[in-house]
Amino acid sequence: MMAVKIAVLPGDGIGPEIVGEALKVLDVLNQKFDLQATWQEATIGGAGYDAEKDPYPASTQALAHASDAVLLGAVGGPQWEALDKPLRPEAGLLRIREDLGLFANYRPTKVFDQLLDASTLKPEVVQGVDILVVRELVSGIYFGQPRGFEEYNGERTGFNTMRYGESEVRRIARKAFAAARLRTNKVCSVEKANVLEVSELWREIVIDVHQSEFSDVELSHMYVDNAAMQLIRNPKQFDVIVTGNLFGDILSDEASMLTGSIGMLPSASIGEKFAMYEPIHGSAPDIAGQDKANPLATILSVAMMLRFSLNREDLAEKVEQAVEDTLDAGVRTVDLANGSTSVSCSAMGDAVCKALGDLA
Ligand code: IPM
Ligand code: MG
Repeated sequence: MMAVKIAVLPGDGIGPEIVGEALKVLDVLNQKFDLQATWQEATIGGAGYDAEKDPYPASTQALAHASDAVLLGAVGGPQWEALDKPLRPEAGLLRIREDLGLFANYRPTKVFDQLLDASTLKPEVVQGVDILVVRELVSGIYFGQPRGFEEYNGERTGFNTMRYGESEVRRIARKAFAAARLRTNKVCSVEKANVLEVSELWREIVIDVHQSEFSDVELSHMYVDNAAMQLIRNPKQFDVIVTGNLFGDILSDEASMLTGSIGMLPSASIGEKFAMYEPIHGSAPDIAGQDKANPLATILSVAMMLRFSLNREDLAEKVEQAVEDTLDAGVRTVDLANGSTSVSCSAMGDAVCKALGDLA
């Protein structure tokens, strides 16, 4: 077994708490299973700014480049909102994604039967939902040039550019089709081709990739407004959704609520050379430092890391099983408790570690 090195970037708000629980899980995998993981922490986001006046410090970049995978908590908080945009926590997150070339962001939404009553939707609508949103992460309107502020028609305006090159669409489409082949073989490509040129090109390239390389996969196309509606109306129609950066940001938050809590959703962001794992939720400054957050999204992100970066499908499944067993036992953080008894963030982490240990 080879030793693996993980760069751990707790970030801001609840980041350190949820990452702390994920590290307990890695400890159990080291002690009771045969993982040989080592890790080193570094700052990002507001923590990076506070330590080094940079939301993506050079030391963090060097550590990320020298590691097998990155585990990130969350970034952001009100105390950094007044800073210039390049110094804000979110800028650090966008820079690490771009710097590591993490173009494919996988956001699985799986409804746990144990949490059916935590969803605001009817159980029969959400039971069995298993969707994978594949979000393009390093281009589109988040990064498109030109952008900025200018005087236009006699007033101050702000503007951004939604831009996709053919090669960018091609590579994310390939990832989505490949992922679908390991699931139920369906891809829905989401854009706004009835209005936007960038989406017209997106659709054209997705169709081309489908015809030339993945014609065994079922492909459909949906405008983003309709997709937002269909996700709530009948989420079970979806398997893989492939979409651009902004639409993927919005639809993945929406999809997360099918599961009852955004605190359950992990993600993997993967490029040619590097990979980063993080919960899809934010830094939740309102509950930071109170030991209340749900660490399961981060723990499930560790499972994705084991699967995609560390080549340990066996251990990924153990971690996922431990989470299921913990939910079966009725352990709930406050976001999942529906008003009944709940446990702290650290108690949830301990419960998962105990369940994991029992699987050894
Ligand atoms: C996410 C977040 C980020 C994004 C923010 C914090 C920049 O919402 O990971 O979904 O918009 O990508
Ligand atoms: Mg988001």
